[in-house]
Order: sequence, then C-alpha cells, then structure tokens
Amino acid sequence: MVRTSFITVSFKVKELKEKIAKLEAVSTKQIVIGNGSNEILELAGRAFLNNKSSALMSKHAFAVYKIIAQVCGSKIIEVPMIDWRHDLENFKNYITGDTRIVFIANPNNPTGTYNSHKDFKDMMQNIPPSVLVVLDLAYYEYVEADDYIKIKDLLDQFDNILITKTFSKIQGLASLSLALPIFFRAL
Ligand SMILES: Cc1ncc(COP(=O)(O)O)c(C=O)c1O
Repeated sequence: MVRTSFITVSFKVKELKEKIAKLEAVSTKQIVIGNGSNEILELAGRAFLNNKSSALMSKHAFAVYKIIAQVCGSKIIEVPMIDWRHDLENFKNYITGDTRIVFIANPNNPTGTYNSHKDFKDMMQNIPPSVLVVLDLAYYEYVEADDYIKIKDLLDQFDNILITKTFSKIQGLASLSLALPIFFRAL
C-alpha cells in the first residue's frame, strides 16, 4: 500500500538518545524525548503546578507557558521586561512561597531577545532549589554570541533546571513531529 498523505518516521529512541547525549556531553539518563517541546513543557507543568501554586514568567513570555499554567489551575506571576529582554535580575523579587516553576525562553519568543549565560546563572543562584526553572532553548542554534548559554555548565551546577530543545525550528522538522531532547540532573 502506498500512503501518499502521510510520512512515517521511524527511529529508535535509544539510539537517538545516545546520539544526543554524545552531542551534548551528558548522560542518556538526562534526556527525555517528547512529541515536540510543547509536550514536555506541559508535562513539567502538570507535574509541578496545581491550584495552590504559581508559575513565574516574563510579561511577554512564550504564550504557551501561560496556557499551561491556566490549564493546571495555577496562578501566573509576570515579571516586567526591560527593552523586550527578560529582567532576570528581578526574577527573585517576584518569587512567592507558592512558586513552583519559572519559565524562560532564551532567546525569547515573541520578543527575539536573548540573555547571557552570566545573567542566567546569577539569576539561578537566587532561585530557591525547590523551584523548577524551565529553560526553553527552542531557538538556541540561532544565537552566535560568545556570552550565550552554556548548557553543560548549567547542568553541572544546578539540580533544579530543566532544559528543552527542539528539532522543529532550525531543523524544520515540526511537521514530522520529531521530538526534543530535555536535559536535567534531578527534579
Ligand atoms: C519558545 C518556544 N518554545 C517551544 C516551542 C514549541 O516547539 P515544538 O513543540 O515544536 O518543539 C515554540 C514554538 O513556537 C517556541 O517558540
């Protein structure tokens, strides 16, 4: 049978994880494959958020974060941006006792700005370890600046970080629903 309206993609998850682990210099145990990064972002929300929690994000954050928080019945706390850039230094001032997740896309969609590795790391040092920081690197490959995020350094230093990447942007594989890698040391 010839199926012209579907493309079937077949890959072995174990092999895919091994390749990604090698590329990113992490263990295969640190990688989770999902059906697009949106799925993983939602799963993180479902695991950490409920109607007694709050989720922190920039005022002009990727729209899906707000939807996830709403679906989970969680409060949304928005941090104002500076020149369309995340004001990472200010994030600590918006954390409350019920904050469970911080969502940050870097570079950000829709503002197209990025924050440096140093600024992100400084912010991490001021976030309680019980709060999961989701660092969404969907547009990682588009940044050429030297001061941009260094994934391995963050994973080596922080346990409460979950990093998402995707094949749907620079690789253009969204329509194939190929998955994304996620990296974390511990949740
Ligand atoms: C910042 C950001 N994160 C995540 C996604 C979701 O990407 P996907 O589910 O295709 O991996 C998008 C898509 O527009 C995005 O802009």
